[in-house]
Amino acid sequence: MKKISKLAIGSIVALSAGVSAACADKLTLYCSAQEDWCQLMARSFEDATGIDVNMTRKSSGETFAQIKAESANPKGDVWWGGTGDPHLQAAEENLTAAYVSPMRDQLHDWAISQATSAGDKTIGIYSGALGYGYNTDLLAANNLPEPSCWKDLLKPEYKGHVQMANPNSSGTAYTTLASMVQLFGEDEGFEFMKGLHSNINQYTKSGSAPIKAAGRGENTIGIVFMHDAVKQAVSGFPVKVVAPCEGTGYEIGSMSIIDGARNMDEAKKFYDWALSTDAQNLALEVNAFQVPSNKSANTSPSAPDMSTIALIDYDFKTYGSSAERKRLLKKWDEDVSTLPQ
Ligand code: F6P
Repeated sequence: MKKISKLAIGSIVALSAGVSAACADKLTLYCSAQEDWCQLMARSFEDATGIDVNMTRKSSGETFAQIKAESANPKGDVWWGGTGDPHLQAAEENLTAAYVSPMRDQLHDWAISQATSAGDKTIGIYSGALGYGYNTDLLAANNLPEPSCWKDLLKPEYKGHVQMANPNSSGTAYTTLASMVQLFGEDEGFEFMKGLHSNINQYTKSGSAPIKAAGRGENTIGIVFMHDAVKQAVSGFPVKVVAPCEGTGYEIGSMSIIDGARNMDEAKKFYDWALSTDAQNLALEVNAFQVPSNKSANTSPSAPDMSTIALIDYDFKTYGSSAERKRLLKKWDEDVSTLPQ
């Protein structure tokens, strides 16, 4: 009898714990910005709301692929960060849900136009220009000239000294590919990517890995967003940041709610909070030097000054479309990545 009642009490306790766990407010966050920023956003949202956050960091292209693979049974609620192109592709493929936040009028026009061009299924949270950085010590030790243009990176003396990410997994690398096509035209842009391939020592999974490797002295030149190179320089590594002389592309880092999110109320709370000044100011605590989308949020004085960089008029509509992103990635896979080095 004693045994039975103990068992019964045990299962009542277990049951109520299970019920309260099931009812606890929670959010599954897919994050494609840098790991330390993702962690800070997750923990700060928990502190601000009491909602438990389960966060996973993966690169932009990888997260897009995951959301697509899970679309019959979505597991994520919000996709925060990462380059805008795959967010736009997700919107077009109805993998993300329309939402108009009451915070929208606090944002810069470029962030709002990202939303309006995608039927409100995504929105801009930051922007940043593409470029590269190099380890000044390694450059000098190898007697290499200081590069300042995209085309400098094709010089034979840089063979084995250049690193970039794979454009299939990384939004940074897809932005590089799409920028070269827009800057030089498709044929010349692909010739550039082929020439670059001869000098590449490794295609990484994550976009910022090449400049982190340069900071550690394991790679000389990394093609990355300029803000990721500034982060290494500010951390004390011998990294010089380059805005290439021909001009360059840029990203509108974005956020989307996943269609069919299991925690839709919490997803909207996160979305509104992430657009607030306070949430966007958190970037400065982790040396994230992107330009924030909230007009009142602070941009670090160390952030690359977008107004002095020759930016191309990046065609987000075209290069974020499902057909074009698929086509360019296939062409890069077939015509560039298979070439001998
Ligand atoms: O957080 C750093 C960052 O460069 C973002 O600005 C960008 O949106 C993201 O990483 C892209 O990462 P990946 O190239 O790995 O998709």
